[in-house]
Amino acid sequence: MPLIEVDNLNVQFDTPDGRVTAVNGVSFALDKGQTLGIVGESGSGKSQAVLAMMGLLAINGRATGSARFDGQDLLTMPAQALNQIRGNRVAMIFQDPMTSLNPYLTVERQMTEVLEFHKGLSRQQARLRCVQALDAVKIPEAAKRIGMYPHEFSGGMRQRVMIAMALLCEPDVLIADEPTTALDVTVQAQIIALLRELQRDYGTAIIMITHDLGVVAGLCDEVMVLYGGRVMEQASAEAIFYRPTHPYTVGLLGAVPRLEDGDRALVAIPGAPPNMARLPAGCPFSERCTLVEARCDSTRPALLPIAGRPAVLRSCHQSVEAVERHARAMRV
Ligand SMILES: Nc1ncnc2c1ncn2[C@@H]1O[C@H](COP(=O)(O)OP(=O)(O)OP(=O)(O)O)[C@@H](O)[C@H]1O
Ligand SMILES: [Mg+2]
Repeated sequence: MPLIEVDNLNVQFDTPDGRVTAVNGVSFALDKGQTLGIVGESGSGKSQAVLAMMGLLAINGRATGSARFDGQDLLTMPAQALNQIRGNRVAMIFQDPMTSLNPYLTVERQMTEVLEFHKGLSRQQARLRCVQALDAVKIPEAAKRIGMYPHEFSGGMRQRVMIAMALLCEPDVLIADEPTTALDVTVQAQIIALLRELQRDYGTAIIMITHDLGVVAGLCDEVMVLYGGRVMEQASAEAIFYRPTHPYTVGLLGAVPRLEDGDRALVAIPGAPPNMARLPAGCPFSERCTLVEARCDSTRPALLPIAGRPAVLRSCHQSVEAVERHARAMRV
């Protein structure tokens, strides 16, 4: 049984403009020690998909489908049971550490509280474990710095504090929502290396949300590409990078620099992400797609495995060959 099994997850919001479907038909499975990447531009539904799993949707939001963790459906679980899992067996880190860190409490106070609540440790025992956790994420002089307030840390160090806090209870799953977006490239690389190390040492499964395919390359086993709340392509990281089969994936790859590229020009996808309240009847990407045809506007393509490559799912009317020609032309 996979550690996490999400089946046909849908997230809808009631708004003054009507009902918005932010996530539509997302399914995936995640095993111990594995990493799933969720990529897509701003507004594609990445955050809402995981917030739904954690029972953290805004009040006007509603999730359907199922999200089983260790066999139990997180979507229908009583709030109290979910509280026992959240931060304990499934932990989450965010782009802005101040979302999870309280600016008015020392790092020590907020970290020890987690262990007192979930593990019933004494303050003394908890403090010792917290210093070790800060050591593990390579915060220098952890025993001294644990007494500081969040604002006394640099951005990268604050991110490490948040990771240390998320990992305190040795969670089975770590959900990371753009944890490195606000950081410079060097610090970003250090944090990714750190996550990989922690995963190797503890077997933590990771769901990594990012709009940066470069981050995905170094970390993920499987990748789900979202657009307009729908899965465009879902496959191994290797397949996504070296044999993309969806024009949107090709577009994302065309916009990221790669080491082996040499002189290839970076090309941004023209246009802007869709208005979620007014998605087109057909493929959500059709209005920006280079390979668009009449049927793309009228009929939504289903997410289906590719003949001969059952582990690759895509939602596109075009032939794989046509997309691969396009990818070669784009030199991705
Ligand atoms: N409370 C809400 N009411 C209505 N719509 C919402 C609400 N919260 C989110 N949405 C919509 O859900 C869609 C998906 O949002 P989501 O936060 O998942 O995007 P994202 O992929 O995480 O983007 P980003 O990269 O910018 O974080 C967006 O179009 C957003 O406007
Ligand atoms: Mg987001």
